[in-house]
Amino acid sequence: MQRPWAVILAAGEGTRMHSSMPKVLHPLCGRPMLWYVLQAARAVTEQQLVVVGYGSEQIKEYFGEDFFYVEQRERLGTGHALLQTLARLPQTGELLVLCGDTPLLQAEILQRLLEHHRRARTAATVLTAEMTDPSGYGRVLRDHNGAVREIVEDLHATAAQQAVREINTGAYCFDLAALKRRLPSLSANPEKKEYYLTDLLPLLTAEGHRVEALMLGDAFPALGINDRAQLARATACLRERINGQLMREGVTMLDPATTYIDWGVKVGRETVIYPQTILEGATEVGEGCLLGPGTHLIDSILKDAVTCRQSTLWESTVEEGARIGPYAYLRPGSVIGPGAKIGDFVEIKNSTIGRGSKIPHLSYVGDATVGSGVNMGAGSIVVNYDGRHKHRTNIEEGAFIGCNSNLVAPLTIGAKAFIGAGSTITRHVPPGSLALSRSPQQVKEGLARRFLEHDQEK
Ligand code: UD1
Ligand code: CA
Repeated sequence: MQRPWAVILAAGEGTRMHSSMPKVLHPLCGRPMLWYVLQAARAVTEQQLVVVGYGSEQIKEYFGEDFFYVEQRERLGTGHALLQTLARLPQTGELLVLCGDTPLLQAEILQRLLEHHRRARTAATVLTAEMTDPSGYGRVLRDHNGAVREIVEDLHATAAQQAVREINTGAYCFDLAALKRRLPSLSANPEKKEYYLTDLLPLLTAEGHRVEALMLGDAFPALGINDRAQLARATACLRERINGQLMREGVTMLDPATTYIDWGVKVGRETVIYPQTILEGATEVGEGCLLGPGTHLIDSILKDAVTCRQSTLWESTVEEGARIGPYAYLRPGSVIGPGAKIGDFVEIKNSTIGRGSKIPHLSYVGDATVGSGVNMGAGSIVVNYDGRHKHRTNIEEGAFIGCNSNLVAPLTIGAKAFIGAGSTITRHVPPGSLALSRSPQQVKEGLARRFLEHDQEK
């Protein structure tokens, strides 16, 4: 049997979002809402045509050549949008029509819709759902045989019709021959001057076809996103799905409600995630890690057994068994070696830190290569920027950097060198040497009293 085709309606501006970005590009859990619709459509159909209009360039730029696009130049409604694709569709077979703003309808539901449609052998099958609060959606009105008579938009519904809780999800399966015959005769709604796709259904029944409905048991997947409050609600549903899946695979979450993980992020089993942790983009976390509370990982890779508390990591890699935080900030290009420790109030940028090295407190390390077994004392700073250029620093294995030192790049600190606390180092330090640069201490016995007494006079 020929696989069905799909049309995804995504030309609308999304006025209710109050945004300059087309509505369907607004993200949930790291991907635009249209991405989810296209994924689901692709799993069950042969070809996908996306109707674009508002912000079409932005949409094409994001999704590239993977899909066919059809332009709807004027936004004259969902029926008008579908009409633009007619010439591009096969003469016979099945067509799935989806809205770009219902990202929670998964492939498995679309498959059920297709199967229901095939069993019923009708011209059209609508996917419906029963909503506790149906406001804003089209209401499904059925005849005494249970067939769909018509769909009334919220705006035009009478009080009695508004009380109907069965809504149109905006997903349909059509017989292409019937669609091609009847869609061109659709007329605009007299009030809104828009061509409603839903008005096609009575045209089909008038021709003697029965319009079927498949009602979802669970209404959540039917959530349509028209404004940012609905976006937040749909995001919460999706998050529940993502977190649920990870927990079933062996990840512990102390509070899934405050654990925010993007679609596609990988987390290994036996990893424990404390609340307020956000894992974004191309992030991958290994097994047996401890994350959070309050950790934010963006496009970062953590190998197994890493601890990362109250820290932000961005395009960074952390090798096995390393400990990060609390309150560390790893900026792009940071690679933390196995078993290394990056402690509190430490910032690392574009630097490689060797195996087992320790930078435990209050440091900045930028554009540096730090060997293994290095110890950088509290407050030690790599001075990588002279106001015009960035320079590199090499700290070779086993070096000891005393507290509050400034290492002025470009610079090499040789292996097992020792930098005295409080030094400002501007020249290379050969391996095994002691380098010190600080003003000698002066002691004036008995003089402290002068300052203290002065204080008391005030
Ligand atoms: C639509 C349905 C409603 C259903 C709801 C489900 C109609 C008339 N109404 O209402 O019955 O309950 O979806 O969420 O179909 N679009 C275009 N071109 C246009 C207009 C819209 O491509 O000219 C696209 C939009 O980008 C959007 C989709 O069609 O992805 C639905 O449009 P929207 O305006 O959100 O329709 P609703 O009012 O939600
Ligand atoms: Ca909508």
